Amino acid sequence: MMKPTKTVGEELRWATEQLRPRCGESARLEAEFLLTHVLQQTRLELYLRAQESVTPKQHAQLCKLVERRRRGEPLQYLLGHAEFFGCSLRLTPGVFIPRPETEELVALIVARSSTPPAHVLDLGTGSGAISIALARAWPESSFVAVDISPKALALARENARRNGVAERIRFVRSDWFSHISERFDLIVSNPPYVRRGYLERAPRELRYEPQGALDGGPEGLDALTEIIRESPAHLRPGGVLYLEIGSDQGSCVRRLLQETNAFGEIETLKDLTGQDRFARAVRSDYVAPGASL
Ligand SMILES: C[S@@+](CC[C@H](N)C(=O)[O-])C[C@H]1O[C@@H](n2cnc3c(N)ncnc32)[C@H](O)[C@@H]1O
Repeated sequence: MMKPTKTVGEELRWATEQLRPRCGESARLEAEFLLTHVLQQTRLELYLRAQESVTPKQHAQLCKLVERRRRGEPLQYLLGHAEFFGCSLRLTPGVFIPRPETEELVALIVARSSTPPAHVLDLGTGSGAISIALARAWPESSFVAVDISPKALALARENARRNGVAERIRFVRSDWFSHISERFDLIVSNPPYVRRGYLERAPRELRYEPQGALDGGPEGLDALTEIIRESPAHLRPGGVLYLEIGSDQGSCVRRLLQETNAFGEIETLKDLTGQDRFARAVRSDYVAPGASL
C-alpha cells in the first residue's frame, strides 16, 4: 500500500521541528527556504498551497536537504544561491558565502562616495559579491576583481554575467597585488581576517567554507597587513581604501595604516551591531619620504 503523502503545510511543520536544534529561532524561515527550493515555489505560494500534497520524490528531496542542514551544512550551499545587496548570486561549496556585514560595507562605500570612482579594485572577490553590487550601483565605473582561487573566479565570472555587469569587470587570478600593475581610485577588500586559533574551534558551519577565505593567520592580520602595505602604490592620490576587519582589529589596523605614511584620513567604522568592522583611509597627495610605495 502507498504511504499517504503529506501536505505542504505538514512538511513545513515537520521540517521546522527537525531544524530547530541547529537553527533555533530561524528554523521556520530556513524550512520555508528549503521547501520553496524543492517545490520551486515562492514563499507566498507555500501558504496559498498549504493544503496541496507534495509528491514522494519532493518529500525525499526535502528529507535529504533537512538532514544536511541538521549536520551543519550552510543553507546557501544547499539552495545554491544567495541574495547580496539586491543581486542574486549563485553559490557553490568551495566559495565563501557573502555576509550581511559586507552588504553594510557596500552601502557605506556607496553612501560615502560623492562621485562614483572611475576604476575600482576588489581584492579577494569570492563569489564576486562586492564588485557586482558596486558595478550595478555605478554603471560608468570599471572594475578589476582578484582572487587566488580559480573556483571563486569562475563563479564570480558567472555571477557577473547573470547580473549583467560582466563587460565592466576584469577577473584576474592573483596573490593579492602580484599580478596587478595599474592604479585605482578605490580599493576594497574583505580579506580572510579570522584568527587561526578561533577557526580550530569554530562553529560547524564555518568548517564547510574554504579555509583560505577565512584564515587570517595567528592574529588574523596576515592578509590585512599585506594589503595595507601594498595599497598605496596602487591608489591614485586621493584614492580610497576600504577594508572589512575583525571587531577586535580596529586599533591594529589603524596603526598599520598610519605606518605606511601614505594615508590621510584614517578611520574605523562600526557595523550595525556597534562593533568595529570597517576601515577607511584616503591616500594622501603628499607621501612622506621613506614611505613604502
Ligand atoms: C572573506 S572572503 C571574501 C569574499 C567576497 N569578497 C565577499 O565579501 O563575499 C576572502 C576571499 O579572499 C580570497 N583570498 C585569500 N587569499 C588570497 C590571496 N592571497 N590573494 C587573493 N585572494 C585571496 C579567498 O579565496 C576568498 O575568496
